[in-house]
Amino acid sequence: MCGIVGYVGPRNVQDFLLEGLRRLEYRGYDSAGTAIIENHHDLLVTKSVGRIANLAQRVTGSSDDCQIGIGHTRWATHGAATLVNAHPHVGGENCLAIVHNGVIENFAELRSQLVSQGYSFVSETDTEVIAHLLSEQIRQKTGGDRSGTTYPRELGMEAIREIMPRLRGTYGLAILFKDWPETLFAVRLGSPLIIGVGDGEHFVASDASPLAGFTDQIVYLADHQIAMISEDRLQVSHRDQGPVAHDVQKMEIRSNQVELGDYEHYMLKEIFEQPESIRNTLRGRLNHDDATPVFGGLNLSPQELRKVKRIVLTACGTSWHSALVGEYLIEEIANIPVEVEYASELRYRNSPTEAETILIAITQSGETADTLAALKEMKRKGHPTLAICNVVGSSIAQEADGGVYLHAGPEIGVASTKAYTSQCIALTLLALYLGRLRHVSYETGRQMIDQINQLPEAVEKALQTNRQVAEIARKYHACDNFLYLGRHYNFPTALEGALKLKEISYVHAEGYPSAEMKHGPIALVDLNTPSVFVMPTGFIYEKVMSNLEEIKARGGPVIAIAAQGDQRVADVADDVIYVPPTAEFLQPIVTVIPLQLLSYHIALMRGCDVDKPRNLAKSVTVE
Ligand code: AGP
Repeated sequence: MCGIVGYVGPRNVQDFLLEGLRRLEYRGYDSAGTAIIENHHDLLVTKSVGRIANLAQRVTGSSDDCQIGIGHTRWATHGAATLVNAHPHVGGENCLAIVHNGVIENFAELRSQLVSQGYSFVSETDTEVIAHLLSEQIRQKTGGDRSGTTYPRELGMEAIREIMPRLRGTYGLAILFKDWPETLFAVRLGSPLIIGVGDGEHFVASDASPLAGFTDQIVYLADHQIAMISEDRLQVSHRDQGPVAHDVQKMEIRSNQVELGDYEHYMLKEIFEQPESIRNTLRGRLNHDDATPVFGGLNLSPQELRKVKRIVLTACGTSWHSALVGEYLIEEIANIPVEVEYASELRYRNSPTEAETILIAITQSGETADTLAALKEMKRKGHPTLAICNVVGSSIAQEADGGVYLHAGPEIGVASTKAYTSQCIALTLLALYLGRLRHVSYETGRQMIDQINQLPEAVEKALQTNRQVAEIARKYHACDNFLYLGRHYNFPTALEGALKLKEISYVHAEGYPSAEMKHGPIALVDLNTPSVFVMPTGFIYEKVMSNLEEIKARGGPVIAIAAQGDQRVADVADDVIYVPPTAEFLQPIVTVIPLQLLSYHIALMRGCDVDKPRNLAKSVTVE
């Protein structure tokens, strides 16, 4: 949450900052702001409440004599979404400007110390504390001398280094000092920061998306590192170790991947990208000769994996739903016991774990604070950790001992769609891989690989339901309550369908195992509460059909997601959306497609901002 950009170089600074912030807007959109230095000494801060479009109207554009600036888009944590709370925040006597992603947990204590030292605060944010703390540190180092005496910029670096131990919490910061108008400073602990290296220019961003089309050379700043950045020089220091070398890596993202193209919304674009994103997750990972998936980065040998007695899957939100799919898959295919834990709970529980337990964290962004903390805790206890992650080089990807990248491409829509199906497919591959290390036969392995290979085509066909789904959405979009029901592999699909609807259309929806609804939720059923049944043909079909009849007997409208060729369901359900029949272990990846589309169309019809739902941010980097 919160997006940061920074730039030093010959381009029009405000133009880059605004474009970068537009691309980061999915990380938060409560308010936005920029700070630039003009004419080598004028620190100019512009802020607005709401979207980047509002900020763009206020920003006047930077003069030719401006080479440096920082920008921020906010997801409010401390203090409401007001102009004073918008970033950048300035330090004492306007000597510096700062943008922050993260949370300073001891800000109240620091704030009262600073107040007693004579600092006054204009905002309610934790960030303003850092701004004043840093200006106080500079004041102490220079003896308060602001008479124009030139101090080297290393003094700024030194001041940042010195305040770091006093900050408890997480931060990614970009900082401009009025006294060093050619240098941009960046520092991180627990919140991501990337530096883009160009020809005579440098960029700073919370993630790679603002850099696409500007440079493909990037440096991932690590925790406790401070970067001192000018047009043509990047120096990185570690808080305790002093200067450190930095690796410049090639970025995978292309600019067309972060553009909308012909689509009206990123969510719709990403829904329709799924056949391709699934192919990308599968690419190079199916070995037909050995009838097994293969992975390059697990960093655990087959011998080590054979000894695993339990797998803990941890994640948040939609990724937690894919973890549930993973639980069914791994237990069914590999016969290894699996626990699925909310990352936010796992971290603080003290559940006994056998030595031969591995942890797998599942995350699109790789930056979710709860997931990162849970992974660190399990690592600390000595368990091997893996990450199933979309964003290359993200904090969780770096922290895990090994893992699987999804290669689904950037996911910009706040509602996760293509990352979810890629997570499910990565877990399917992992389940089969583990199964083939144990009891799954060569022949079964071959058969499953053939079925997996047909998946992108099945998803393509499922996407063809779009028009029909839009008609169904028109029929039900005014309803204020929905039930989503499914069993076995399709129980997590029901949860995911309900979450999609809730988060983008603000409609109340409950996901349940369909048999479980008899134990309470059935009381919600009435003429205006549709039940969405996820019920492709399979061993549990008859049972789900009985659950459907139970709803119909109480007058509830039913929308069924069923397998092509199932005529029976059409006689009882009010509306049926047919998807291609697939092997049961692959069904969740196909049945979720119409549910994604349903939530999209309902949200549109209710006038909601599909890509930027209220109160949400794409990456939740606070606990
Ligand atoms: C999904 O639509 C949500 N935006 C949210 O639940 C998300 O899946 C969750 O915050 C976890 O994010 P991650 O996958 O990036 O860790």
